[in-house]
Amino acid sequence: MSKRTAVFFLVTLAATLVCSLPLVTRFAPATHAMAKPAAAGRQAPGAWAQLADPIQANANAMLAEGRTIFRYDTFGDEAFWGGTLHLHQAIEGGKLGGVGSGVSPATAIAVGLKVDVDALPAGLVQQLKAGKVNLTDPATTLALLKLNSVVGVTGYFNKQGTLSSVGIQCALCHSTVDNSFVPGIGHRLDGWANRDLNVGAIVTLAPNLQPVANLLGVSQATVRTVLNSWGPGHFDAELFMDGKAFRPDGKTAATLIPPAFGLAGVNLHTWTGWGSVTEWNAFVANLEMHGQGTFYDPRLNNAAQFPVAARAGFGDVRHAPDLITAKLAPLHFYQLAIAAIRRHNEVNIVTIFFLCFGNSGVCY
Ligand code: HEC
Repeated sequence: MSKRTAVFFLVTLAATLVCSLPLVTRFAPATHAMAKPAAAGRQAPGAWAQLADPIQANANAMLAEGRTIFRYDTFGDEAFWGGTLHLHQAIEGGKLGGVGSGVSPATAIAVGLKVDVDALPAGLVQQLKAGKVNLTDPATTLALLKLNSVVGVTGYFNKQGTLSSVGIQCALCHSTVDNSFVPGIGHRLDGWANRDLNVGAIVTLAPNLQPVANLLGVSQATVRTVLNSWGPGHFDAELFMDGKAFRPDGKTAATLIPPAFGLAGVNLHTWTGWGSVTEWNAFVANLEMHGQGTFYDPRLNNAAQFPVAARAGFGDVRHAPDLITAKLAPLHFYQLAIAAIRRHNEVNIVTIFFLCFGNSGVCY
């Protein structure tokens, strides 16, 4: 071996060693982590993969948890919708132990409620197709609630099989269905604003609106007039803070329900930029849905701007147990994962490029 070849060999060897060092260190913890499941007796491929990439595993678990919360968690708000307003009695109707004529599936769909076809057993889907299901009977609504198929609404049942309470979820306003079965029945579309949903009309069904009247310091009749002024796709999230039901021009102060997709990376949310998604989620779950959690925002103590909220102490709400706070992280994570929807016929940048520079160089 000549002196030059020997030097070249040594340099190459040294370079190889130096380059492979970081690789060894990088792979070492992974190897160590992968050894764990075998020792613990957990040999399922999923467990191995999880520990090999704990961040991915955490993301998957959090996403699934967040979706369940967004779709099905009432945060204990049935204490308000059922317990205080007795809305469940209006849904089941007098014949089933409630009050009034009840809410049939046809009425429910007419006020914008949606049914998740994936929650219906195949036999029921067949019967629906054959027109053999009575859509004018509130008992059918109860059956749909029992199947957990009414988007954003959970029924609680007693031993007799009738409703003991009812609660709502984020999905009530921020999900709809694709109408693939019939209008109002289809696959869930999370994040899409339900612009058919007549929240006001649904709440006016409640036999006892006195607690809302007390909160606002008006009569039940006034509360009903205000709720009826909202219309489909609208909800007034600020009414229970500032007590202002109408704009200076006399029109409803209710706003359109916004979509809950495409929220990642946006700083301030709501139409007026009230706060971050985290802030707003906690706000809605505690103060709008009336879930049982913890909420702190001293801005709501300003009696001049928010007389209703200040009187009710909404700036500092605490419940034990807290059914909201621990759910906010996965809920947030899920929302941020819902991408904004592209329209099918959207003109994309490539089309614009060809329209502008294609043949003639003239933009038209
Ligand atoms: C009763 C209908 C209703 C329910 C239930 C509801 N929201 Fe909303 N949501 C609204 C309305 C209306 C607004 C617009 C409020 C405004 O701008 O004044 C809104 C706004 C938002 C925004 C801001 C969106 C943006 O683009 O600025 C987020 C985030 C949000 N809601 C999340 C949630 C979550 C999470 C839940 C469940 C904990 C929930 N909402 C439950 C009606 C609802």
